[in-house]
Amino acid sequence: MSDSELFIGLMSGTSVDGIDAALVDFSGNAIKLIVFDYQSFDSHIRDKIQAISHADAVVSLNDYGSLDAQLGHLFSQAVDALISKAKLPASAIKAIGSHGLTVYHSPDGHWPFSLQIGDPNIIAEHTGITTVADFRRRDIAAKGQGAPLVPAFHQAVFSDTNENRCIVNIGGIANITVLPKHENAPVTGFDTGPGNTLMDLWINKFHGSSYDKNGAWAQSGSVNHELVGQLKQDPYFSALPPKSTGKEYFSLSWLYQLVDVSQFKPEDIQASLCLLTATTIADAIKQHSPATERVLICGGGIHNAYLFELIHQQLECPVESTADYGIHPDHVEAVAFAWLARQTLNHLPGNLKEVTGAKNSVILGGIYPGNTNRAID
Ligand SMILES: Nc1ncnc2c1ncn2[C@@H]1O[C@H](COP(=O)(O)OP(=O)(O)O)[C@@H](O)[C@H]1O
Ligand SMILES: [Mg+2]
Repeated sequence: MSDSELFIGLMSGTSVDGIDAALVDFSGNAIKLIVFDYQSFDSHIRDKIQAISHADAVVSLNDYGSLDAQLGHLFSQAVDALISKAKLPASAIKAIGSHGLTVYHSPDGHWPFSLQIGDPNIIAEHTGITTVADFRRRDIAAKGQGAPLVPAFHQAVFSDTNENRCIVNIGGIANITVLPKHENAPVTGFDTGPGNTLMDLWINKFHGSSYDKNGAWAQSGSVNHELVGQLKQDPYFSALPPKSTGKEYFSLSWLYQLVDVSQFKPEDIQASLCLLTATTIADAIKQHSPATERVLICGGGIHNAYLFELIHQQLECPVESTADYGIHPDHVEAVAFAWLARQTLNHLPGNLKEVTGAKNSVILGGIYPGNTNRAID
């Protein structure tokens, strides 16, 4: 089945909620999602990940290496579950694109790096399927930010020669892709700042929940506009792209440095964090893509009805879900990593240098060959 155009994308984002797995058929150059599956992380593994992926973490090499291997096994099991749901043998799949789990993203340090774990050797060995992984570091080696990497995929699926579009992905961090209708105009994009991460952290501290369902807790509070104004002073928001960020920057420590949280009701802080998130996304669109005619939203943040409403209120054009344009908002990123794996195997670049700031377009990732003779254990 060497001419198969079936690819698997595995995505695990900064929200540390779980693993998204998409089986995608690219035959005839179409992009067709065949099956999607999601495996949530249990609280034990989530705690381990959170413990090593923040700015002040002190980690033993043993803990780091063990978690890298454990996640490699969890990603492998996510592939097992996906192909069994699809009722397909591993040999039908050409390759897996595995994003890995970002434990640290530092594109602007003296020695820039971005670190994703979930050992791809284990995925290739366990599944027998060729695995492409470590997508971000080649872009960083080419002096890019290593992020965002989804804009090239957004361009392939969502661009339209009749209207200027902007795609917003609201994961832990939020990023936008500007898709001009003129084919010769460059596609641009960058991380706008926090997506769900600050709201997730804040509700977790008070209520132990991993997220604010539908934004209900935020909506029960009152926005403090002075507080939002204070947080918006952070230089990240006014910095010009290319730029990217991570949850090690937009963390509770970040909030505590800027605000005396004891002065406010917790739900008012949540409401204010929600408005901050919405405003920094809307401002990014207004400033960097004022001609936008339609905004399409994907990522888990779309389920936060209050956040969606606050974004909508600040923009004049229609704001819709990517579901209306072919891909369910929860599936976009995993499909994107299947697409990026295919780019790599076809020796095609996956980054957009206008987005990441890289000096070249580059073929992303390392390739870990599979073994087509080997069945799944
Ligand atoms: N019903 C909901 N209400 C509010 N927020 C939600 C809801 N469903 C998902 N989310 C948010 O989406 C996040 C997961 O989004 P996801 O796109 O998977 O992010 P990442 O790519 O960072 O993993 C959750 O952490 C949560 O903040
Ligand atoms: Mg996720």
